[in-house]
Amino acid sequence: MHWKKLDADERRAVVFGALAQNTSYHDGHVLGLPGSFLDRLVFPEGDFLQDAPFLSCMLENPNHIGCHTLGDFEPNFQGTQNLERELLRICAEELLGAEAGSYDGYVASGGTESNIEALWVFRNQFRAELGMTVNEVGVLHSADTHYSVPKAANLLDLVDIEVAVHDETRRMCSAALEDALLGAKRRGVRAIIVVANMGTTMFGSVDPLDPLLKAVEAAGLPYRVHVDAAFGGFIYPLSVDDCALSFRDPRIGSFTLDAHKMLQAPYGTGIFLARKGLMQHVQTEAARYVPGTDYTVCGSRSGANAVAVWMILSAYGSADGRAFVAELLARTDALCIRLDELGVRYFREPGMNVVTLRAGDVPASVAAEFQLVPDRHDGPPGWWKIVVMDHVDEAAVDAFVAALGAITATQDGAPLPPG
Ligand SMILES: Cc1ncc(COP(=O)(O)O)c(C=O)c1O
Repeated sequence: MHWKKLDADERRAVVFGALAQNTSYHDGHVLGLPGSFLDRLVFPEGDFLQDAPFLSCMLENPNHIGCHTLGDFEPNFQGTQNLERELLRICAEELLGAEAGSYDGYVASGGTESNIEALWVFRNQFRAELGMTVNEVGVLHSADTHYSVPKAANLLDLVDIEVAVHDETRRMCSAALEDALLGAKRRGVRAIIVVANMGTTMFGSVDPLDPLLKAVEAAGLPYRVHVDAAFGGFIYPLSVDDCALSFRDPRIGSFTLDAHKMLQAPYGTGIFLARKGLMQHVQTEAARYVPGTDYTVCGSRSGANAVAVWMILSAYGSADGRAFVAELLARTDALCIRLDELGVRYFREPGMNVVTLRAGDVPASVAAEFQLVPDRHDGPPGWWKIVVMDHVDEAAVDAFVAALGAITATQDGAPLPPG
């Protein structure tokens, strides 16, 4: 894994070089586009912009409509589209082990859109290649999967198949998996889109693919695999050796990664990646006014957001990216050691920065003070989660552990009240 680190001057030069390749709305010849630079009254230009490449991109407001790894595309913004292609290259080839140029993708509005795009691709592929109708295609996922997956199944009229997980391990229960597949077959499901997680929202858990696909194969159903790495995509491939969920596994067709989570990019930076040949299944030929037509759920989208992701990746390079992740994981390890000392029970996936505490071991007052996120708001929580992000430093962890320890001590060995 290697991509280059660039210093601030180099990044500035690349981004302003990219903007210079775009057609600027200032050019005087842009008469046909239904877009412009940002409102001059509210967003005035200033000298400081020479030092602010991302803000300059925002003010210039390039539209990255369409998919720029495929065919023809809107020529006015090719400078910043090149940066989008480069960030997709880093994600697909360096983080996820794809062969050079063997994928397509785009910067979507977020993980939700990217998951919808994936299910849309595979649904249409099953239709086109196997003649399936929508209610013959099921979406198989664990109960810990993000709600955007059942949302996508609902939007696309697919059969949602949720599989229970073991309370302790967060792995799918094999009996429940077999039952779910049998039940789906009885309801007429003849093909499966498997969604595997690289970091679930609440637990950071990572789904092992082999037992899952073995069960689908035993059920005799054709399948496609999408990996939801919205949460773990910018941490897990950097923290484990030979990450099993990657494009090196030919069974996996597509990935979601969210730069607006672990990468600390602005909101609006979900990333969708798919093997070449798949996005053609969602080409909207009716988008005739868009050069190259459209292959995305969203249509118009911010070029500045793509540049922001490129800038963050280039500010670190692979070596500092790994070091950043290692630092977060060291803090997560330290938190777990302190929880062990206090006898507080939790789930933690190795290589991930999420620690999910049994609600019964955490007084509600401490959970509220440190704004832990519960697994549910519509009833008593079973779990509270901590995500060790950049701002969750040693001092924050110390304060949390001290508050927990103080309450544990006042209990004098008695069980804690339920959270
Ligand atoms: C695993 C996972 N997938 C998808 C999403 C949806 O992402 P977004 O909120 O960017 O649409 C999330 C959000 O938390 C997530 O954790």
